[in-house]
Amino acid sequence: MAHHMFTTDKTPLRTAVVGYGYWGPNLVRNVIERPDMEFAGLCEMDAERAAAFSAKVPGAPVYSDLAEVVANPEIDAVLVATPPRTHHAVVSQALRGGKHVLVEKPLAKTAAEARDLIEIAEANGRVLMPGHTFLYSPPVNKVKQLVDAGALGEIYFVTSSRLNLGKYQPDGVVCDLAPHDLSILLYLLEEPIVSVSASARSVFQDGVPEAAFLTATFASGAMANIQLSWLSPRKVREMVVVGSQQMVQYDDTANDEAVRVYDRGMDFKTPTNFGEHQLSYRSGDIIIPRIGAAEPLSLELEDFVNAVRTGSRPRSHAELGYEIVAAVEAAEESLRNGGIPVSIEPVRATA
Ligand SMILES: NC(=O)c1ccc[n+]([C@@H]2O[C@H](COP(=O)([O-])OP(=O)(O)OC[C@H]3O[C@@H](n4cnc5c(N)ncnc54)[C@H](O)[C@@H]3O)[C@@H](O)[C@H]2O)c1
Repeated sequence: MAHHMFTTDKTPLRTAVVGYGYWGPNLVRNVIERPDMEFAGLCEMDAERAAAFSAKVPGAPVYSDLAEVVANPEIDAVLVATPPRTHHAVVSQALRGGKHVLVEKPLAKTAAEARDLIEIAEANGRVLMPGHTFLYSPPVNKVKQLVDAGALGEIYFVTSSRLNLGKYQPDGVVCDLAPHDLSILLYLLEEPIVSVSASARSVFQDGVPEAAFLTATFASGAMANIQLSWLSPRKVREMVVVGSQQMVQYDDTANDEAVRVYDRGMDFKTPTNFGEHQLSYRSGDIIIPRIGAAEPLSLELEDFVNAVRTGSRPRSHAELGYEIVAAVEAAEESLRNGGIPVSIEPVRATA
């Protein structure tokens, strides 16, 4: 790995934000609020949006061209909130200019682009972090604790639903929403996805699905079914993890009762000699753990600052970002081929 020039002192990280559309304002607000960051300006090529920003944050520097940001030695890091198809160009330019980069999900459009960005970051000794916000969500981390403690037993399958009447995007619903489910699943299970199959319906434009149904198979045989839609009447953000010991339901819309742990299951005993199989059901308590409140985006930025300062690997790390892009790419390939399962080459150096 290349020589890292991490800042060792506690001076705030001078941070610019690129892109001020739907998500960028959340990044700007967080950077301004954080004591460990200093807001170093916005880069937005749309003049109207830049003006809207200036009205909100008077006096802050505004750039229309990323080259000016990259050339500015007073800027240490950039947070990228531009559309996925622009990530490779924007992020590679920033990394080559010596900036640390946090880029919104997905890391890139293709696995090849994602790998290239990882190599550019290494060659330049800079942090490259994809912004998988859900890894910093308190309910997701409660489920993670339960999985890690073995409370669920062996994970058999997961169902995940992410539906609402959402914003139509040219990259399609898979590229937009699947990274969230995939990031949570890879984080919880800590094992690679070996294949993905997908089906979808594109109502308005060919190749831009509004709804998609993905099935991901993990190395252990665990399976996940993911329903995605931005043409649905109600907001649903629900995941059910079924294990041999317990089951967990995570409902991201349920505020302080987001996680329910069910002591439920089925035991199946195969007789040693001839005789009937024995099937017994368990239907025990339902526990609702208390979960603290914290803004995931703030925890994500804290992790980014630590990575820049200490060289630590962020929880939402670039290899995870790569795996997610590879799974999205496999889903898109499956869509083009009638829903056949598409295998993913194992790449994980570390489990
Ligand atoms: N973590 C989350 O929960 C979350 C939520 C929403 C969006 N996102 C991600 O945020 C990113 C942005 O999504 P969005 O919905 O805000 O998009 P958007 O289209 O609303 O906004 C993108 C903005 O970037 C600007 N832009 C594009 N290229 C630029 C360039 N080269 N230089 C400067 N400005 C440029 C555009 O003018 C636009 O204002 C996407 O990667 C998306 O997946 C993440």
